Amino acid sequence: MIRSVVLGCGSYLPERVLSNAELAKKVDTSDEWIVQRTGIQQRHIAAEGEFTSHLAIKAAQAALKNAGIDAQSIDLIVLATSTPDNTFPATAVAVQNALGMTHGAAFDLQAVCSGFIFALTTADSLLRTGAGKRALVIGAETFSRILDWTDRGTCVLFGDGAGAVVLEAQQQDGTAADRGVLTTHLRSDGRHKQKLYVDGGPSSTQTVGYLRMEGREVFKHAVGMITDVIVDAFAATGESAETIDWFVPHQANKRIIDASAQKLHIAPQKVVLTVDRHGNTSAASIPLALSVAVNDGRIKKGDLVLLEAMGGGFTWGSALLRW
Ligand code: UT7
Repeated sequence: MIRSVVLGCGSYLPERVLSNAELAKKVDTSDEWIVQRTGIQQRHIAAEGEFTSHLAIKAAQAALKNAGIDAQSIDLIVLATSTPDNTFPATAVAVQNALGMTHGAAFDLQAVCSGFIFALTTADSLLRTGAGKRALVIGAETFSRILDWTDRGTCVLFGDGAGAVVLEAQQQDGTAADRGVLTTHLRSDGRHKQKLYVDGGPSSTQTVGYLRMEGREVFKHAVGMITDVIVDAFAATGESAETIDWFVPHQANKRIIDASAQKLHIAPQKVVLTVDRHGNTSAASIPLALSVAVNDGRIKKGDLVLLEAMGGGFTWGSALLRW
């Protein structure tokens, strides 16, 4: 059977680092509160004139380099973002253009913090139907542009960044020993759409709007939803918390990650954590974390890697893949 195998990954973080101490000068917060409640110590913030596409292009170039392939061999770009450069065209076509590609297809996908899992699933499905041979799956965000910098309940949580993976359709045996994406599970429940949203948009207010969140409500649902889709991934493959090598969750809050891992009996040393340095970069957080763990030598070819995310909508999902 055809599987979507990861050929490489890469990421990019804006130069500017914003510490908790600096934030405490702007809003009524403290390093102690932020670290204790979220695990976040710092986040990166895009420079003036630095757009989501700029971060995405750098992450895509790093992923192509890591994969050792040329952009001309890519025929699909799926870019997950909730902070596109413009309402349209898709930020993905800016990436396509910057990579010098005039063939194939490029489009954006929006599932907020779950965006990378949704994009990976979409690209995997298209590759497996023969719609393309190689895909770039990108998560890229500039959430700093949609934050209300006077709201301490949200502005301390998010950061900017981008990550990307290159997938290739490869013939595999059809067993759990295969490399590539083994299973994906997507969910959403629009009853919760007002718990984490942006209070503007082209059709409603003709403004961009700011992020609004009932943090405690999101927190309350997160662990249960995450656990459900991971249980689905294990049931679909026969794998388990014992057999996975790495758990790379969406990086929103260390407490949510710790509680999810604990509930699923995933050993703490298997958990890849970047929320302390990156904050919550929404759709970019998983490919950023993958990139960190690949670059420092933790994730190696053949490793079984479990991904999950939960975010606005609510949307949530999991993916299990062999690197
Ligand atoms: O990416 C996916 C979506 N996002 C998430 O997964 C985020 C989910 N939610 C969370 O991570 C947590 O709910 C937060 C980190 C946002 C908040 O933590 P919490 O433990 O749920 O705190 P809380 O909202 O219950 O607030 C506790 C107190 C409140 O004061 P009172 O009412 O007890 O006097 C807040 O006003 O902490 C106060 N507070 C702050 N204090 C200092 C809220 N934000 C801050 C802040 N600094 N930045």
